[in-house]
Amino acid sequence: VSLVIRAATIADLPAIAALAGELVRQHHAFDARRFMLIPNVEAGYARFFQRELSAEAAVILAAELDGAIIGYAYARLEGRDWNNLLDACGALHDVFVAESARRTGVARQLVGEVEARLRAKGAPRLVLHTASQNAAARRFFAALGFRETMAEMTRELA
Ligand SMILES: CC(C)(COP(=O)(O)OP(=O)(O)OC[C@H]1O[C@@H](n2cnc3c(N)ncnc32)[C@H](O)[C@@H]1OP(=O)(O)O)[C@@H](O)C(=O)NCCC(=O)NCCS
Repeated sequence: VSLVIRAATIADLPAIAALAGELVRQHHAFDARRFMLIPNVEAGYARFFQRELSAEAAVILAAELDGAIIGYAYARLEGRDWNNLLDACGALHDVFVAESARRTGVARQLVGEVEARLRAKGAPRLVLHTASQNAAARRFFAALGFRETMAEMTRELA
C-alpha cells in the first residue's frame, strides 16, 4: 500500500466533497440545531472547494491510498479577527479520514502537511474548532499537541 499526501486537484473534488458530506452529517448528528445540514451539501462543497483551489490563502490536501481518495484536509490563512481576539493565523477547518483508513496515521500526516504549507505562507500558529461531542477528534488533536483555548456554547431562542 502506498499513501500519498498531496495538493488536491479539481479531479479530486467529487471524492473530497463526498467525505466533506460525511463530516457535515456527523456534526448534524451531534446536534441538529447547531450544525446545519443543507440539501445537496456535497455539490455545494464541490463548488466551494473549486473556488478555494485558486485562492492563495487556502490549502486543500488529498490523501490518496492506492489511487483512492481516503482523506482530505482544508485549511486557510486567516487575517486578524477582533471578535475572537485572534491575530492572523492558520485555521484548520476540515480534516476527515474514511473510517476504513483510520488509526493508521493518515490524519497526522495531513495535518503535518497543512502545518508546513501554512507556515510557508507566514502563519505563526494553527487554530481549529472541534465539536464538544467529537471525542475522537479531541483526542486526535490533543495527541498532535493542540491545547484547548475556547469553548463555544449555544442556546435556542424561544
Ligand atoms: C479524527 C480523525 C481525523 C483522526 O484520523 P486518523 O487518520 O484516524 O488519525 P491518526 O491515525 O493520524 O491518529 C493519530 C493519533 O491521534 C490519536 N487518535 C486518533 N483517533 C483517535 C481516537 N478515535 N481515539 C483516541 N485517539 C485517537 C491517537 O493518539 C493516534 O495515534 P495512535 O493511532 O498511534 O494511537 C478521524 O477519526 C476522522 O476523520 N473522524 C471524523 C471526522 C472528524 O471528526 N474530523 C475532525 C473534526 S473537523
